[in-house]
Parts: sequence; C-alpha cells; structure tokens
Amino acid sequence: MTPRKIIIDTDPGQDDAVAILLALASPELDVLGLTAVAGNVPLDLTVLNSLKICALAGRADTPVFAGCDRPLRHDLVTAEHVHGSTGLDGADLPAPAATAQDQHAVDFIIDTLRSQDAGTVTLCPLGPLTNIGAALQKAPDIADRIAEIVLMGGAYFEVGNITPAAEFNIFVDPEAADIVFKSGCKITVMPLDVTHKALTSRAWIDGLRAIDTPVTNAVAGLTDFFERFDVAKYGGTGAPLHDPCVIAYLIQPDLFSGRHVNVEIETASELTRGMTVADWWGVTDRPKTAMFMGDVDRDGYFDLLTERLRTL
Ligand code: BDR
Ligand code: CA
Repeated sequence: MTPRKIIIDTDPGQDDAVAILLALASPELDVLGLTAVAGNVPLDLTVLNSLKICALAGRADTPVFAGCDRPLRHDLVTAEHVHGSTGLDGADLPAPAATAQDQHAVDFIIDTLRSQDAGTVTLCPLGPLTNIGAALQKAPDIADRIAEIVLMGGAYFEVGNITPAAEFNIFVDPEAADIVFKSGCKITVMPLDVTHKALTSRAWIDGLRAIDTPVTNAVAGLTDFFERFDVAKYGGTGAPLHDPCVIAYLIQPDLFSGRHVNVEIETASELTRGMTVADWWGVTDRPKTAMFMGDVDRDGYFDLLTERLRTL
C-alpha cells in the first residue's frame, strides 16, 4: 500500500503533539512536513514545539516550516491557560535536533500541492486555519489539487469551548475558516461533538507509563497536565484528546461516524464569532460542504493510540 501523503498544520499543544506522534508512528501515512501556525501559543513556540516533537519521535528529518504569526484579520488569541506557558507543559522533551526550514509554511503548502500529483496530498489542520486560508487566498488553483482537508475544529451540539458559541481553532481565525469551508475542497471535520467523547482515562495513562519508553512517558506527562484544566472545567475524569482524532481518522476511518452537511462560519457577530453553523438536521437547502463527525469508538481510538505510540 502506498502511504497517504499528508501535511500537518499545527499549533502544539499537548494534543497536537500526540497527533503528530501518531502520524509519525503510522506506516499508512507519509508526513511531508509540519507547518506551524500561531494558536495555542505564539508562533516561535509552536515552531520550537514542532521541532521538539520530531526529536522525541526520532524523526528530526521531518521538515518543519514556520507559518503565519497572527490571524488574517484579528489579533491572536492564545490558550496558555489550557496548555501552559510553553504550550507543551507536562513533560521534559528533548531539545530540537534540527532547525526550521527557511521557506514560509504557506509557500511550502502551495509548492507541495503544485508539485505533487493532483489529488494526492491531504491537509491536516490541528490549529487555527490561518496558514491554509492564506494559501488558498494566495494560490486559489491549489483548491482543486487538495485530496482532502481533515481538520479539528468547530462544534454543533457542544457549541463552544473558548466562548459560549465557538470552538478555539475556528474562533481564533474565523475569516480563514470561512475561506476553507467555501473552498469546494473535500472536508472532514472533527468537532468538539466527537472530541468531547475522546476522553482520556487513568487506565490509559497508566498503561502508557507501564510501557515505559521516552515517547509513552512523555505522552503520559503531557496528558496528565492537559487533563487538569478540562477536569476542573467539565468535571468527571479525563480530558478530550482532540487533535489525534484527525490522524486516527486517516488510519482507521470506521472509528468515526457523522453526517455530510452544510457548514457555515460566523464572521460578523461579536457574540457568536467563530461559530460553526452546521445544518445537522438538514433544515436548509444549502449545499453540503463537509463531513461533520459526531461520534467515535472511544476504546478503539485509545487502543490505536497505544498500539502506535509504543512503536516509536
Ligand atoms: C483545539 O484547541 C486547542 O487548544 C487544541 O490543541 C485543539 O486543537 C480544541 O478546541
Ligand atoms: Ca491544536
């Protein structure tokens, strides 16, 4: 089987880190590069964190590109209250074993899509959609060449996590999200409706520690840190491990189920900025623009993560 070529667009983030590790551990995927974007923490840290994760995985040969340092129109909103001041609090990660590439992430995305066969490169955004929106704005021809965009962002039933109406990734750059959702590309969305069911458990984290490799110990530490915020916020145990849902979908799509629906992005209202208005019940005749996931096989998801992370 030829591995599927992907570009991971990311703002690490503990859950981004687990997603990147899952991709690097999976022979079904060929990670062409990581494109960093400002989001959970500012760009200099998301670049540094991307390099550290590649070093942790023993894959410093994975090219890392610095992208946009702020959203297309608004000031940057960050989430240190969730991820800590480094973005990756909770584990002592190795120092980077490489430096970032000179090329801008947006140009890397454009050049890669133009140079690879049309329909062979999948984009995997795990953060605000600024780099992808900027690439589509600068080079509209790439829309027809993208195999699929599988992204973490938005919510319908769960509504919001950074405001009462919006999920963080879409809220930070709704104008970029609007470009992406209007692009005509094949889009698959992992919203909070799914990721709030992908809750970590004490048994899963203990299981990683029992495997006792540098990668599984780091993921246990990162997840422990990440949990404390969501446990305090939502109650119960465990935290939503959002971003790895994107990568898990590429490896084992039958873990997820959802509906093909119209999705529009609210960009005008101060109150509901960044809301993903998904026509889940089909009450309009607007065109269906995205596969909007709603459920996940939680056990299967965490089994896949353990099985792959232990191989790194
Ligand atoms: C998303 O926001 C970030 O904090 C996480 O990394 C994830 O991509 C969840 O709303
Ligand atoms: Ca993220």
